[in-house]
Order: sequence, then structure tokens, then C-alpha cells
Amino acid sequence: MCPVSVIDLRALESDPHAILADLRRTRPVAWVEELGAFVVTRRDLALTVLRDDATFTVDDPRFTTGRVLGASMLSTDGDEHARRRAPFARPFRLAAVRKRHAASVRAEVARLLTAMPPDGPVDLRERLTAPLAAATMVDALALDAPVSEVLAIYETIAAAVSGLAMGAQPPSAAADAMTRLARLVARPAELADTAVLLFGGIETTDGMIANALLHVLAAPGVALAVLDDEALLANAVEESLRLEPAAATIDRYTTCRVLLGGVRIPRRSLVTVSVAAANRDPETFPDPDRFDPHRANARLHLAFAQGPHVCLGMHLARLEAHVALGETLRRFPHLRLDPDLPSVPRGLVFRKPSSLSVLLRAPAGS
Ligand code: HEM
Repeated sequence: MCPVSVIDLRALESDPHAILADLRRTRPVAWVEELGAFVVTRRDLALTVLRDDATFTVDDPRFTTGRVLGASMLSTDGDEHARRRAPFARPFRLAAVRKRHAASVRAEVARLLTAMPPDGPVDLRERLTAPLAAATMVDALALDAPVSEVLAIYETIAAAVSGLAMGAQPPSAAADAMTRLARLVARPAELADTAVLLFGGIETTDGMIANALLHVLAAPGVALAVLDDEALLANAVEESLRLEPAAATIDRYTTCRVLLGGVRIPRRSLVTVSVAAANRDPETFPDPDRFDPHRANARLHLAFAQGPHVCLGMHLARLEAHVALGETLRRFPHLRLDPDLPSVPRGLVFRKPSSLSVLLRAPAGS
């Protein structure tokens, strides 16, 4: 008999960490009826799942992204996966990303910061993190369209994927969005793979930068400390990825019966790796709920996954986050969170604040 957990999904969406900590302590592999999944919350077991694509595959007809986009590198394993990922491997390596994107990301961040309004609260998701992530992917994929058009396509696809995760059917609007995307893409690779990059590159990077700004601004003295210390700024971004990974869960399907953490999992079961839980496993991260920009092993987080599907865009996402944080803090030394509109990350799969309201300048007369 496997351990069964009853979970309030709304609580899991708004404040999952206490629930996940309880699961990790008592049932690190637990059948959660409300999700229809075996949820894995311990970091070592999460790694076992992510590294073994022969036992824990993405290749299953229930896979939500696959149902909206069609087969892509995200929904295939083995040779087919390698074939689809190969065209992107070289341009997304660290050195290639720096060479190709450092100047354009810097220019885009400068443009967005210059366009900030002169006073009043500003939503940094709307004015910085979302448009930066979108513009960077339009540039990276050489899409022949204004950022606003690409964002509209992206939002239709994202809504369809989220709807499916909540049990809805893929809407016809998603197919139309894919047709519109097909017209914009110069084709070195397959359309579904380009759509996966677009999706991965916008949603999660927007969330990653918003969460990092939120963590840095909420911790006393950290904004000032990271200003003069690039290494500390980079580590603060890793610590933020650990504490609130923008993609909080990763789904796999078992290809055979398997014993994981002492729990028998039948063949063709959904196994959901909780990255959010693995990233706060106290075996690896002492005092795991604390945001500590100096944490020596922050980079051991699993926010970019591990194994064959490890995030292709992590170097580009990090570059965007480092430049966005550094330049914003430099340009606005009085930057602080808006006390009247608190920002809190939320979401079951993708976690970020719905808005990030800040005050950019010192109050008049101060
Ligand atoms: C420039 C930005 C990004 C791009 C272009 C990008 C692209 C991709 C692609 C193409 C994959 C699929 C790789 C494969 O299946 O072989 C992937 C996987 C993944 N990415 Fe990213 N990504 C970006 C940013 C991010 C960010 C900011 C996060 C989280 C903080 C993230 C988390 C993940 C995770 C968890 C996976 C594994 C998904 C799975 O195995 O099911 N990505 N990414």
C-alpha cells in the first residue's frame, strides 16, 4: 500500500513550502490523489528520476506541452530527443551566449530602464522582466515580428498548456497561434522545438528575474551589497532560483514498475518531481527556508533540472538576470518594494508574483 496524501491544491498554489516540507519529511514519494501523481520531494530521489530517462520518460500522450505543441525535444527521449536538441546545443553554450547576447541584453535593459515613468509605483514585471524575456527570445530565435505580436502568440500557447494541466481541452486558438508562429520562423529546426524555446525562454525567465528582484529587495542590505560584487550578485540569483524556482515541478512517466524511495510505483504512472521541495531539502541546504545570498552551495539547486532534459537556455536566462538586476539596482539606488502592494510568488507549476510593484526613486525632499 503506497502512502496517500490529501492536499489542498489552492494552498499548494499560494504557499506550498510548508506542505512540501511535511511531505518530504514523512512521505518523500507520495501518491497525491488531487494531482493524480506520485510526488517526489527529496532532492536525491528527484535526481534519480531526472537522470534516468529509460525509467522515467517524457514520452507519453498525457504530457501537456506535447498535446499543445506536438512532439518536441521536451516530449521525446533517446535518439529522437538528441536529434531535436542538437541544432540548439552550440548557440546556447555559455561562450556563444555571451558573445551573441551580452550587448543586446544590456541595450534592451538600458532601453527599458530609460523608459520608466518619472514617479509613482512601477510594476517591474510589466516594465522590465516580461518585455526583456520576450525581446531576448525574439532576438535569439530571429523571429521576424514585433515583440508584441510574439507575446500574443506566446500567451495563447501558455494559456492552452496551463488549461490542460487543470484538465481542459486544447483550444483551437492554440493551433492558430502555432500557425502564426510558423510564419515567423526561419526554419533550421522543427516548429515545435522553436515553440518550446519560446515558451521556456519567456515564462520562466520573466519569473526567474522577478523572483530574484523580489528576494534581493526584501532582504535588508542585500541590494547594496550585490551592487559592488558581481560574484555575490550571481550567487544571489542562484539562491533565489533555489528558494523559488520559476518552474516548480517537472513531470515524468514510468516505463516499468519501479521502486523509488521504498514506494512501489506502477508502470505508466505520472511522477511529479517537486523542484521547489528538492531545493529546500535540509540534507543539502541547511536552514533551507532562509534567503542567504552567501550560501556556498546555492548552485546545487535543481531549478534548471538535470539529466538529458537539463535546461537549454540556462546560460541565456542567467545572463538576462545578472544584467537586469545589476543595471536596475545601479540606475535606481533608492529602489524599494512598494509597501502598499506586496508581491508574493504564486502558482502550482510556474511560480512568480503576479506583479512586482516598486518605488524607483527617493521620496521628494528626503
Ligand atoms: C532563455 C531562457 C530559456 C530558454 C531558451 C529555455 C529553454 C529550454 C528548453 C528548450 C528546454 C528543453 C530541453 C530538453 O528537453 O532537452 C528547457 C528545459 C527546462 N528548463 Fe529552460 N529555458 C529557459 C529558461 C529557463 C528558466 C529561467 C528556468 C527556471 C528557472 C528553466 C527551467 C527549465 C526546466 C526545469 C527544464 C526541464 C524540463 C523537463 O525536463 O521537463 N528554463 N528549457
